Amino acid sequence: MISTDKNGIIQQFNKEAEKLLGYEAKEVINIHTPEIFHLKSEIILKAEYLSKELNKKIQKGFEVFVEKTKLGLKNENEWTYISKKGEHIPVLLNITALKNKNDETYGYLGIAQDISQRKALESQSKLASMGEMIGNIAHQWRQPLSMISTIASGILVKNELNITDNVDVSSNMEKIISQTKYLSNTIDDFRNFIKENNDKERISLVNTIEKSLSIIKPSISNNHINLIVNLKDDIYIDGFENQLIQAFINILNNAKDALKEKTVDKDKLIFVETQFIKDELFLIIKDSAGGIKDDIIHKIFEPYFTTKHKSIGTGIGLSMAYQIIAEHHNATIEVFNSTYEYNDKTHTGAYFQITFKDACLI
Ligand SMILES: Nc1ncnc2c1ncn2[C@@H]1O[C@H](COP(=O)(O)OP(=O)(O)O)[C@@H](O)[C@H]1O
Ligand SMILES: [Mg+2]
Repeated sequence: MISTDKNGIIQQFNKEAEKLLGYEAKEVINIHTPEIFHLKSEIILKAEYLSKELNKKIQKGFEVFVEKTKLGLKNENEWTYISKKGEHIPVLLNITALKNKNDETYGYLGIAQDISQRKALESQSKLASMGEMIGNIAHQWRQPLSMISTIASGILVKNELNITDNVDVSSNMEKIISQTKYLSNTIDDFRNFIKENNDKERISLVNTIEKSLSIIKPSISNNHINLIVNLKDDIYIDGFENQLIQAFINILNNAKDALKEKTVDKDKLIFVETQFIKDELFLIIKDSAGGIKDDIIHKIFEPYFTTKHKSIGTGIGLSMAYQIIAEHHNATIEVFNSTYEYNDKTHTGAYFQITFKDACLI
């Protein structure tokens, strides 16, 4: 908890702030503004960003922290604090106005929450999906590489025997060029996936789902899981494609984890479906792994909630998916247990329903 006067000079600096930042209260109170323990580059970026958002010039100083509060808007943001020793600490900072009896602002109160653990888990989870992606690339590359190698060896042999003809060489070179184009496209897909993207783009939801599926397909088939995809309805939305891919992968990975426990291969099913009803698009991801126990199903979107062994479960996957879907895309995600028939057999499993509203129909 850190409070300031109207101009930003620190007035209160509690014990937790001392512990987190390594400054003593008496070193900062009445002397500094919180700028001394903020990352300068973030203040500059935020000033530019806020100037655009609020359509007025915001100076690169204390203003960036309090301008939204002054305007009566919700003011909660992620920032990087720098401790006295120079450590970087990610925090979630909420700033409210301190008002006197006459409703005049005499200062500001900032409450910061240390989110370094959550951040570390998020990058862990991102690394895990990058691992999936690399596995997928390796899988996709094997065949074209072996084709290129076969064509080149064939030409080499013919050349040594002096029996090459021009038509043969041309058609074979064309085959090689088309294969290298394909290889280069898979690299582009990967680059797009790891690129940080700050602007929403107009994206096709089915296209985004297909990209997610192609990333996790190799590990799905390695685990003998039957993936049943029916993406007949599509919509365009304004969204962050990489984030959505991450969210879908997290949900699909959980289904895979749950199905790994099953012994009978032909009962391992994951269904991925889209359905457009009225003006909403439903994305359904359901499995046949038995479902989620009633006493925990309401907890699975909470950060750090996991039933898996410490070495594999982080509990961050679904909380990230929730954040991405609900907070960044104005959609909803719900989970049920569902019992259904498939190929004359009854199956039970988790049923995730993601609903996109305000959609622009193709
Ligand atoms: N498809 C599913 N079937 C059964 N349980 C699931 C499924 N998806 C999620 N869960 C439960 O939700 C918990 C939280 O999932 P998640 O947030 O991805 O964390 P983690 O996978 O690291 O445990 C899991 O530990 C599991 O108990
Ligand atoms: Mg998970």
